[in-house]
Amino acid sequence: PASGPLAGRHVIVTSGPTHEPIDPVRYIANRSSGKQGHAIATAAARAGARVTLVSGPVNLPDPAGVEVRRVETAREMLAAVDAALPADVFIGAAAVADWRVEAAGDKIKKKKGDSPPALALVENPDILADVAARGRERPRLVIGFAAETENLLAHARDKLVRKRVDLIVANDVGSGVFGAGENEAHLVTAEGVESWPRLGKDEVASRLVARIATMLEASAGK
Ligand code: C5P
Repeated sequence: PASGPLAGRHVIVTSGPTHEPIDPVRYIANRSSGKQGHAIATAAARAGARVTLVSGPVNLPDPAGVEVRRVETAREMLAAVDAALPADVFIGAAAVADWRVEAAGDKIKKKKGDSPPALALVENPDILADVAARGRERPRLVIGFAAETENLLAHARDKLVRKRVDLIVANDVGSGVFGAGENEAHLVTAEGVESWPRLGKDEVASRLVARIATMLEASAGK
């Protein structure tokens, strides 16, 4: 049996972007690399947890000792999370597309003289808020990320309350963290904010996992 501060715990992590098809050959995506989410899955496994990593399309190897479920769309990601529950901890590190396209069954053709096609957007499920709103199936700790270019902490606090999560890891994406190896994280909880210096994404992951172990201990018996 595994040993470590998260031994006996099941941790679900979402990571990477989602791809939302426009037609059979085109899609909408975002700049998430999956580095931070994958690093968290790796760190949680090292800490002894059983880890399910639900990943959108990324150019990263599957982390060692982790159960990986690869998906493309937000709806597939939610279905994979659903199938992986119950868990002690849910960490939503994926950059889930807020909207999907009402996809065409066939490739949209460009015809001379036609005006460009309009994309009809439909709201995607909010996986983090959905998991946090579960009753008996709600993981003891639900953790989200906030990537913002402005008013970082205000948006993070708003997300904490609105999505009913226990912790938001906020980072400023105005300064090129997408795809980069480092992150400047602020941990936002109901108790307040703790700001970490600029750290490697692996270091952010192992510190976060240590914090999760402490929070689980503190909430034991509650
Ligand atoms: O509101 P915003 O998208 O900025 O919130 C980010 C957090 O919510 C991240 O933890 C992200 O993984 C999660 N999220 C989600 N499903 C969505 C949108 C965001 O799980 N559809």
